[in-house]
Amino acid sequence: MQQIKVKKIKCLKGKIVAPSDKSISQRAVMLGALAKGTTRVRHFLDCSDSKNAVAAFQKMGVQIKRFKDKLGEGVLIKGRGLYGLKAPEKVLYIGNSGTTMRLICGLLTGQKFKSTLRGDKSLSLRPMKRIIDPLRMMGADICGRVKASQEYPPVKIKGAVLQGINYKMPLKSAQVKSAVLLAGLYAKGKTCVQEKLKTRDHTERIFKLFKADITTRGCNVAVCGGKPLIAPGTITIPGDISSSAFFLVAASIIPDSEIIIKNVGLNPTRSYILTLLRRMGANIKILNKENVKSRWEPSADLLISSSRLKGIDISEQEVAYAIDELPILCVAACMAKGKTRIRGASELRVKETDRIYSMVTNLNKMGANIRNVKNDLLISGPCKFKGAVVRSFNDHRTAMCMIIAGLVTDGTTTVKDTECIDKSFPEFMRVLQRITVT
Ligand code: S3P
Repeated sequence: MQQIKVKKIKCLKGKIVAPSDKSISQRAVMLGALAKGTTRVRHFLDCSDSKNAVAAFQKMGVQIKRFKDKLGEGVLIKGRGLYGLKAPEKVLYIGNSGTTMRLICGLLTGQKFKSTLRGDKSLSLRPMKRIIDPLRMMGADICGRVKASQEYPPVKIKGAVLQGINYKMPLKSAQVKSAVLLAGLYAKGKTCVQEKLKTRDHTERIFKLFKADITTRGCNVAVCGGKPLIAPGTITIPGDISSSAFFLVAASIIPDSEIIIKNVGLNPTRSYILTLLRRMGANIKILNKENVKSRWEPSADLLISSSRLKGIDISEQEVAYAIDELPILCVAACMAKGKTRIRGASELRVKETDRIYSMVTNLNKMGANIRNVKNDLLISGPCKFKGAVVRSFNDHRTAMCMIIAGLVTDGTTTVKDTECIDKSFPEFMRVLQRITVT
């Protein structure tokens, strides 16, 4: 098992390029595979989650290969049309990716064949009933491994005739919304999804790009089934703000730091972390604004310099807007003056690991003052981290958080089981080293 040892550094200086967006890369594979025509995906994220998505579609007969040209590299997907997928000969192995598993389930319910999807140990413990319930309402024949009124992978699907539904989302989840919309491509009539709060809208945006019959108004989305998807030619994936967040926090908490992160995705449904960090006192400027209004996916460069942070109160609603960035926000809160409260963060418990548990356990071991009361996180700062041996709990974001914490720690921080970083940001350590001043 791989481990990384981290020591305190002087500061961060320089320019990096944000790694490509994981959520959008995965969706690009799916839509590319179901479209008529060929899609060239530039800046495709080469990580284990997207590799699992690619492998699943290759097993269903889709030709996907890498390309490299003067402008860069990416993947080329030869779409087979909505009804062109082939029945997989074997069980589809999805690895660790909740997004791939849940979204593929949606589109497989409308096929004319049977399929089974399984994941690794962690994914096999993640709840699937959240997608199975609405898909069954549409007429899907889908079931997971049933345990104590929940369903988990492996998931078995028999293609069925689907019917459009009006679905009021009980949960704040882009994965659930996306699974229903992907099934909606195959359903008779209209499939409408109503959210209480608008979660990340990458599926809606990519549906529009592929000319799906989709309408969006505030928290409502509707898609009409049976219409072909048309390959848009070339797609360029912007940088991932969730991966960039590790550097946003690192540059904020390490004195004398100043970095530029180029090409960060600033989709308004993803960029709430900027609002939260600024509320804490972070110094973040948006540069090169020409692409911030893009109807595809907005992006820009960010300039971050260190600042004194203060504790803040984060409401349950805000939790949904920054769900993937909350672990690293906990690290920022440990270095901030005063109290931070993150309210109603129960969704953190059903990620790659229970992130409330992983962050509270690790940060307390390093001398932080962090505890959880039910599903709230309470942090008092600033604290002085001391070197410790901490674990990733096989969760990529926990691993990267602890490495960042190690940069402001007296003594050595040993982070165990770090191969999981490959899931979303294989270049993380190299990028960090590039801007590290010791
Ligand atoms: C994702 C949605 C979020 C997020 C995950 C990726 C997506 O999950 O945590 O990393 O790509 O749709 P939920 O929809 O379960 O909140």
